[in-house]
Amino acid sequence: MLGSAAGGGVPQWNCNCRVCRLAWRGDQRVRPRTQASLALSVDGSDWALLNASIDLRQQILATPALQPKGEGRHSPIAAIVLTNAEIDSAAGLLALRERQPLAVFATEATLAAIAANRMFDAIDRSVAPRRAVRLGETFEPLPGLRLELFAVPGKVPLWLEEGEIKTGEIGEGAVGVAVEGGGARLVYAPGCAHVTEELKARAGDADVLFFDGTLFADDEMITNGLGDKTGRRMGHMPVTGPGGTLEAFARHTSLRRILIHINNSNPILIEGSAEEAKVKAAGWEVAFDGMEIGL
Ligand code: MLT
Ligand code: MN
Ligand code: ZN
Repeated sequence: MLGSAAGGGVPQWNCNCRVCRLAWRGDQRVRPRTQASLALSVDGSDWALLNASIDLRQQILATPALQPKGEGRHSPIAAIVLTNAEIDSAAGLLALRERQPLAVFATEATLAAIAANRMFDAIDRSVAPRRAVRLGETFEPLPGLRLELFAVPGKVPLWLEEGEIKTGEIGEGAVGVAVEGGGARLVYAPGCAHVTEELKARAGDADVLFFDGTLFADDEMITNGLGDKTGRRMGHMPVTGPGGTLEAFARHTSLRRILIHINNSNPILIEGSAEEAKVKAAGWEVAFDGMEIGL
């Protein structure tokens, strides 16, 4: 787990909310966190990243397995898989512009959003080819690691919003990733507006689910005076409340369930809080940077 926070990280540069305030003070109850990304490996030497967070350089500095080996130019990062074109998911590509061979996998829609932004042309396509993946198509970013992208309800990236925004759209703009390797399965879905039957079924087949833990309560940005949007308006279902994550996966009791992409306003980030206790009692883990999972 390279990064476990939502956009802004923990603490967020311009925030002194209840959680960020503790983090700024160095209070042991709140671990600092970078923006969401998961690194996958079959053999421990080559790695595929699910999303390239804007904190990627910092994440590589914190992760010896991702640092160059041998002499001269090298990186263990062989592939990047993008679940959407949000800044916290994709802007880390800009940190990888030093002509390192790697492949970038995403849907046509996500690749189009990136292609429309010329700054990403700094990542030379002849060295780092972009591979469009269809929903439901199996691809292998690393030998022995089989992935499928599947649609999750979402919306266009924040930086592409204009006019009236549809927040539960099912298409190529926001996807989850189903991963299979060595007989183990995981599902990664850092942004999801509501749970679909397909997602429930895919999670039911998995050993581990990494799921959108952005907000604890749908209106917490508003009630804490941090913003004027609900979680659902941001394309993120809340952890609690009717139609929330705890409710949606309440029957997946044999599945290891881990909350990721956690916003700094979310009180589950305070160790020992009632809110953290509530998600733990419901069978969920709260991801942290540097968390390692062997399957
Ligand atoms: C999101 O997950 O809603 C986006 O990453 C928002 C952002 O750009 O921070
Ligand atoms: Mn995000
Ligand atoms: Zn905050």
